[in-house]
Amino acid sequence: MNGIEGLYDGREQTLAKHEVLRRYLQRFAFIIGSWSESITYVDCYSGPWDERSAEFADTSFGIAIEQLRAAKRRLGKSIRLRCFFIEKNESAYFKLRDFVSQFDDIEIETRNEVFENCVDDILHFVRADSKTFPFFLIDPKGWSIPIEVIRPLLVHKPGEVLITFMLEFIRRFVDHPEPKIQQTFDMLYGENDIADKFRSLQSEERDDALLLEYLQRVKRAGGFEYASSSLILHPQKARKHFNLVYLTRHYRGLEVFKEAEKAAMQTMESARAVAAQRRRQSSGQLEFFGAEEMHDHTYFDGLRSRYLSSNAERLMNILKSSDDVTFDELWTCGLESPLVWPTDISDQVRAWRDEKLIVLRGMKPVERVPKPRSNHRVSLVK
Ligand SMILES: C[S@@+](CC[C@H](N)C(=O)[O-])C[C@H]1O[C@@H](n2cnc3c(N)ncnc32)[C@H](O)[C@@H]1O
Repeated sequence: MNGIEGLYDGREQTLAKHEVLRRYLQRFAFIIGSWSESITYVDCYSGPWDERSAEFADTSFGIAIEQLRAAKRRLGKSIRLRCFFIEKNESAYFKLRDFVSQFDDIEIETRNEVFENCVDDILHFVRADSKTFPFFLIDPKGWSIPIEVIRPLLVHKPGEVLITFMLEFIRRFVDHPEPKIQQTFDMLYGENDIADKFRSLQSEERDDALLLEYLQRVKRAGGFEYASSSLILHPQKARKHFNLVYLTRHYRGLEVFKEAEKAAMQTMESARAVAAQRRRQSSGQLEFFGAEEMHDHTYFDGLRSRYLSSNAERLMNILKSSDDVTFDELWTCGLESPLVWPTDISDQVRAWRDEKLIVLRGMKPVERVPKPRSNHRVSLVK
């Protein structure tokens, strides 16, 4: 958090998003850089957008450049760093272009264009280095990127993707009467009349279904083994703002993403606490206690409990549908949900074993907790 104080006041949702990105890329660049000769970072909607830092420390491209270069320094080897940045707005683009032109240790291409017209150029740039591992950030301001537009990036192997899923907008359009909006909605998911699937669902169930359906579709479209998500809350209200959907072909990526999410959620709650205190004190009434002590975590805690119990239900349904399930299957499915972390899955399975609802097989006598990639198996007690 050093050096970013005040940069995100009033847009704490961006801080939370950037914390997930920063923490994830820090590990990603180090892990990938330890075995790969080259990393390519692609920011499809680069900004800058509403930035306050003259050094662009509060932008996704500024964060990515910083993390890629830091990993290279720590690794002490000569990996090739490559970036492709796209920004539609001309004045924002000029700021982006001027800022990135100072880095002569990174191969950088920029476009002042709409992302939709740059997909071929992106792939061309990525493929120009046959040894590179690309990471694609798809972080639009709006809600409506057709799945067909991003499919060429999703299918690229190797590769990882992080997509902003604008839940707050998307949920509003489920019942929208305008055929044009419904068509845009269909294209987001890649299926006609997809909104019908969500209309009978209310509030939380609707939000969960919208996210999960999207996550499954982009996962399938790209042939990813693993997908996950995180949740970003409104800074000043007890309301969900948007989700981040993460796609990877390696279980380690999933673990690292979840660790990044967990740490970023603490930053988000602290920032929400400060924002809430700032609002309360704006009338001139000073508070005796600090923001953290005064903060009401009920909304966040309630959401986490809800995700844990809906997740437990999903995992139990998997167990009911088969006599022999690998722990990996439960782990992969459980970690798709926001606010659910790897230890939650092991704890849930252990609790079921202690309640004698399931039996665990394949664990060595010294192993107390089921783990992924260990051939641990789970089945219901009949
Ligand atoms: C949410 S902001 C992205 C912020 C950036 N990723 C970050 O986290 O710092 C979206 C950016 O995309 C730009 N933009 C909007 N539509 C675009 C499009 N079709 N193609 C490329 N850029 C677009 C906007 O001008 C804006 O700067």
